[in-house]
Amino acid sequence: MDFIPYGKQSIDEDDIKSVVEVLKSDFLTTGSKVQEFEKALCEYTGAKYCVCVSNGTAALHLASLTLLKENDEVLTTPNSFLATSNTILYAKAKPIFVDICEDGNIDLDLCEKEIQKNPNIKAIYAVHFSGKVVNQEKLKHLKEKYNIKILEDCAHSLGGSFGNIKAASCTNSDVSILSFHPVKHITTGEGGAITTNDKELYEKLLLLRNHGMKANPNIAPWYYDMLELGFNYRLTDISCSLGISQLKKIGSFLEKRKELVKRYENAFRDMEYIQSLYDYDKESAYHLFVVKINFEKLKMNKKDFVLKMREKSIGLQYHYIPINKQPFYKNLDYGDEKTPNMDKYYEHSISLPLYPSLSFEEQDYVIKNIKEIL
Ligand SMILES: Cc1ncc(COP(=O)(O)O)c(C=O)c1O
Repeated sequence: MDFIPYGKQSIDEDDIKSVVEVLKSDFLTTGSKVQEFEKALCEYTGAKYCVCVSNGTAALHLASLTLLKENDEVLTTPNSFLATSNTILYAKAKPIFVDICEDGNIDLDLCEKEIQKNPNIKAIYAVHFSGKVVNQEKLKHLKEKYNIKILEDCAHSLGGSFGNIKAASCTNSDVSILSFHPVKHITTGEGGAITTNDKELYEKLLLLRNHGMKANPNIAPWYYDMLELGFNYRLTDISCSLGISQLKKIGSFLEKRKELVKRYENAFRDMEYIQSLYDYDKESAYHLFVVKINFEKLKMNKKDFVLKMREKSIGLQYHYIPINKQPFYKNLDYGDEKTPNMDKYYEHSISLPLYPSLSFEEQDYVIKNIKEIL
C-alpha cells in the first residue's frame, strides 16, 4: 500500500487543462482569473466581497491589520493552526486563549464571561474547527450586545453551514478567511481569500494586498499613488484558474468526505475505545475527521499509536498541538491558561485520513490497522 496521508488534494484533467490555458495566455498574474475566482467565491459563500491572496495566513494578516489596533486584546482558540493567533501578534495586538467545547470549537459562553471582565477585548477570532461552523446565534448575540469585531477562520469550513447560514458568508462577522492549501476543500497550491460584506474594509484589503498602491489616471494612465504600507499578497491567475475549476467540484468533494465519515463511524460504532469527536453532522464541511481514543484504558501512548500506524504507511495528524503551549508563546508568558477541555482533548484526539480521492479500499485498510493496533 502506498503511503496514505491524513489529507491530500484531488486534481483531475479539467484542473490541469484550466492551468495550462492560463500558462498559454497573456497574463500569469493580475489578469481576469482573479476577479472571476473572487466572484465565484462570493456566489458560493453568499458574501458580498472577496479578496484572493497568496495564502490563508496572508488573509489572516490583512484581516488583522484592518480589524485590530495595537494593544487590542483578542479572544481566540488554542485549537487551531498557529497562523490564527500569530497574525493577531503581527498586528501588535494580544491573543487571549479561551478553552474549547466538546466539538473542538472555541467556547463562546466563556468568551462572553471574558468580555464582561475585560474592556480591552475588542475581537473574537473563531475557527470552525474540522468544518463544524461555530454557533451563529451565539456569535450574533456577542456581536450585537458587545459591539465586538468578529473574524471567522473558515480554513476548515468551506461548504459548511449553521442552519441556513453558510460558512464565510460573514452573516455574523466582519470578515472570514479561507485557505486553499492542498489539504483543504479546494486547492490553488498555496492560496487564500478574505470575504466580507463591508465595502470600506474590502477597499482597504485591496490596497493592502498590492503594496498600498492605487492607480491615479488623473495624472497619467501608468501613474500610481501609495496610500498604505501594503504587501505583495497577490494570488496568481494560474492559481485562480485552478481555484475556479476546483470550486466547480466542491459539491462532489463534500459528498465524498461525508460518505467516508459515515463509513468510519459505522466501522467504529461497536468499539469501546474510539469515538468520533461529534455525532455525524450533515452541516459540517468535514475538513478533518477527528476521533477520541481512550489511550489510558488501552495503556497506550498517543505517539506510539501514530508511529505504529506510520509503520503501516498510514499518516495520522495532531489537530492541534495547543498554540499557547508552543515554546514561542511560552516565552511570551502564555501556557498556564485554564483550558481543561483543551488539555483533555489533546490527550485523546487524532485525525484520520480524509480526502475525496481516498478510496474505500484505502479507508478499509486504515480501519483494519486501527482495529488491530488498538
Ligand atoms: C485553521 C487555519 N487557519 C489558517 C491557516 C493558514 O492557512 P495557509 O496554510 O493557507 O496559510 C490554516 C492552514 O493550515 C488553518 O488550518
